[in-house]
Amino acid sequence: MLFRSWAQTTDARWPDVARVADHVGVEHLVVTRHALVREVLTDPVTYRPDNALDAVTPIPVAALRVLAGHRFRLPPTLANNGGASHPQIRAIVAEALHPTRVAAQRPWLTGLVRERLTAIGAALDAGAPVDLYAELAADLPLLVLARLVELPDAPVGAVKEFARAALELFWAPLDADRQAALAAEVGRFHRVLREFAETGGGLAGSLRAAGHPPDVVVGALFFLLVAGQETTSQFLTLLLHRLAGEPAVLAGLRGGTVAVADVVEEGLRLEPPIVTWRRVAAVDATLGATAVPAGTSIVLWLARAGRDPAAVEAPDEFRPGQRGSRRHLAFGAGAHRCVGDQLARMEAAVVVGETAPLLDGVTVVREPWCPDNLTFRMPDAFVVQRR
Ligand code: HEM
Repeated sequence: MLFRSWAQTTDARWPDVARVADHVGVEHLVVTRHALVREVLTDPVTYRPDNALDAVTPIPVAALRVLAGHRFRLPPTLANNGGASHPQIRAIVAEALHPTRVAAQRPWLTGLVRERLTAIGAALDAGAPVDLYAELAADLPLLVLARLVELPDAPVGAVKEFARAALELFWAPLDADRQAALAAEVGRFHRVLREFAETGGGLAGSLRAAGHPPDVVVGALFFLLVAGQETTSQFLTLLLHRLAGEPAVLAGLRGGTVAVADVVEEGLRLEPPIVTWRRVAAVDATLGATAVPAGTSIVLWLARAGRDPAAVEAPDEFRPGQRGSRRHLAFGAGAHRCVGDQLARMEAAVVVGETAPLLDGVTVVREPWCPDNLTFRMPDAFVVQRR
């Protein structure tokens, strides 16, 4: 269940808290109810974020050597930092992603999306199939991020490959050969980040000026490059796919009776790109009626929490604006709540608003397929053709 949890969000048999062993025999406490997931996320004293980036498949010595050869380290920085340095690092990142700076990117992104859709529309008119993941969703978030945060001068394809390799290395069930290959890929790019962290301006410069050591600067850039663009690419793909099967919502968007912002929130609730997120119990605790010994890995099932009937009126239906639609936990909650939420929302609103008319007349040729992963959906393609 752990590695394809998105396929079980509607399975009624799940208890509020379930003990589930993973592929290597480690037991996790899977939390399924909205109120309990929130309780864990907002209590950083009892439930710490230290395990957020731990590899779910322990990395064997050979792959660790590869990483060490690239001086790879992931110190507590953002998502995995329950320490005293977190608020300051977070504040510097939040400044770079300030809503005013995000809003200023909207016209540019709208222009780029329109340009892309002109080419996509022409291909569809000619009867060709079009992969909306590859042609639209894959690189837009990275292009926007690069306008907000100074990043190393690397080709888009190289960043995407590195980010997907990192999501696989840390969150997928893997064998040793694959781990070694992924470690080489992740390590190589980590080296690029390390060089940039020493001299780069913008966010890297601000972190250095605030006295943070190079490892922290690299850690922040690493997390931003993974969480700050791959997640949104995945979300755009999943949401466009979902909308292609929701003709009433598309008609509402066309007629102006459905708001784009409400579609985005309902999309985050029903199709979150991050399906689970982890915490670790710092002390003995009780969650609902379940005893939680200190040291327990807690898997918060964010996708399931979004469909909790206690939180939302029609949990499995895509009804923009319905009661409870915005109460989803797709961005987490509490001290570590996603700091890029406004950026992700802006990007999704532009893409949905501009692409919805085109989705009206298409048929799905290939649905997104998602590989096994504890946390990320990672859809590989979404191909449509004109009806
Ligand atoms: C749809 C897209 C996205 C989703 C669903 C998402 C979801 C999440 C989740 C679940 C967390 C963990 C929250 C917690 O522990 O309570 C998180 C943290 C974070 N996200 Fe996002 N995210 C998205 C996009 C972005 C973007 C675009 C950026 C930045 C460019 C970003 C940057 C971060 C950072 C820096 C953290 C760590 C915050 C901290 O620990 O203080 N995310 N995100």
